[in-house]
Amino acid sequence: MKTTNNTILITGGSAGIGFEMARLFSENGNQVIITGRNPERMAGAIARLKNTSAIVSDVNDAEDVEKLIARLNKDFPTLNVLINNAGTANYYDMTVPDINAFGKASEEILTNYLSIIRLNERLLPLLTQQPEAAIVNVSSIVAFAARANSLPTYGASKAALHSYTNSLRIMMEGTPVKVFELMPPLVDTEFSAAIGGAANGIPPQQVADDLLTAMQQDIFEIHIGRTAEIFKNFFPLSPQAVLAMNGKLPGPAQSTNEAPIRAALEAHWLASAAGDANAEHDIYDDDAICDYPQSGERILGRRNLQALRSHHPGKPSGFKVRRILGKEDLWITEYTITYQGRPAFTVSIMEFRNGKVVHETQYFADPFEAPAWRKEWVQVMAGVI
Ligand SMILES: NC(=O)c1ccc[n+]([C@@H]2O[C@H](COP(=O)([O-])OP(=O)(O)OC[C@H]3O[C@@H](n4cnc5c(N)ncnc54)[C@H](OP(=O)(O)O)[C@@H]3O)[C@@H](O)[C@H]2O)c1
Repeated sequence: MKTTNNTILITGGSAGIGFEMARLFSENGNQVIITGRNPERMAGAIARLKNTSAIVSDVNDAEDVEKLIARLNKDFPTLNVLINNAGTANYYDMTVPDINAFGKASEEILTNYLSIIRLNERLLPLLTQQPEAAIVNVSSIVAFAARANSLPTYGASKAALHSYTNSLRIMMEGTPVKVFELMPPLVDTEFSAAIGGAANGIPPQQVADDLLTAMQQDIFEIHIGRTAEIFKNFFPLSPQAVLAMNGKLPGPAQSTNEAPIRAALEAHWLASAAGDANAEHDIYDDDAICDYPQSGERILGRRNLQALRSHHPGKPSGFKVRRILGKEDLWITEYTITYQGRPAFTVSIMEFRNGKVVHETQYFADPFEAPAWRKEWVQVMAGVI
């Protein structure tokens, strides 16, 4: 999915994660529209953002949503990305008598689930008209694993959103609309203050960065930080279960052995792109060997490999995985890293044992000028260099 030249609606963009997404996407050449309920908060946010418009609108209010749709169709007809970020959570103990768990859960289900279904339904006619479009539903780590003591019913609303997002992704196949799900762990925002977000949460900027990188790579279920850990340890086959349920799983081998390796590779490349060296090297066996045949170098052991990569003088400004191909214990990734504006076309061949990489061979190719002599037999591929 392209991450520039989009027109992006972010619900709940006046604070927290939504605000950081608005900042990042607007700074990366996108037109952004944010919504929120509180006009003063919106004005404060918009003053700190460029290339962004604000529309006061409550996702739970049907009339507001109709007005929003009319305004978007009129003023932003190129809208091609919808980020369903606005959310609510009730921190309470559901064993306390008369705590009104029904009312609290109803509010969570309305904001975090039903309002998203309504907005998606009303915006799909516009989104499907665009050459390339996306819906990003922001769920949470609790969609996988409930946090019973403080958020007893919030998790159910996010689990509902997770299930619906899986259905939507499959239903949108064959249309221009790609369906992403962003699953943050605890994030340091106002929202999480009551459950220790300030002390233990990751910065909201990291969530925005990881979303942008995952969209570039078409990673549709985005596990950030601790979510990736929980997923890898307990849910690695869940995407395959959805495919199997819908008759889309190519073969039985994939359902057992290959799904965790693919998930580990996706996490590895996402961490490489984000510069998270610990997460990036989690995929390697302690005694892994890495070879660079072009320079004749061999790196022995995960520790050396991580140290070497951590000392690279440049930070990549671009990172795009073209494809991951593999079977059983042999996997190949073709990708491009951009250092100082210059792409390096890279191939990584990984051999696995017991789910960890024991041997990697990497080739790095520089771009070259297309020779004039073969021009008549050649087409130019747009957007490669
Ligand atoms: N923070 C975390 O630890 C965490 C972890 C996992 C997932 N998430 C999810 O991430 C999303 C964003 O959370 P956050 O931490 O960034 O929250 P936040 O800091 O409280 O910001 C929420 C934003 O949504 C807006 N909003 C709330 N209710 C709305 C409604 N009914 N209609 C329109 N806008 C509304 C708020 O503005 P107004 O109040 O002015 O409307 C604000 O702009 C939520 O879906 C949340 O469930 C958060």
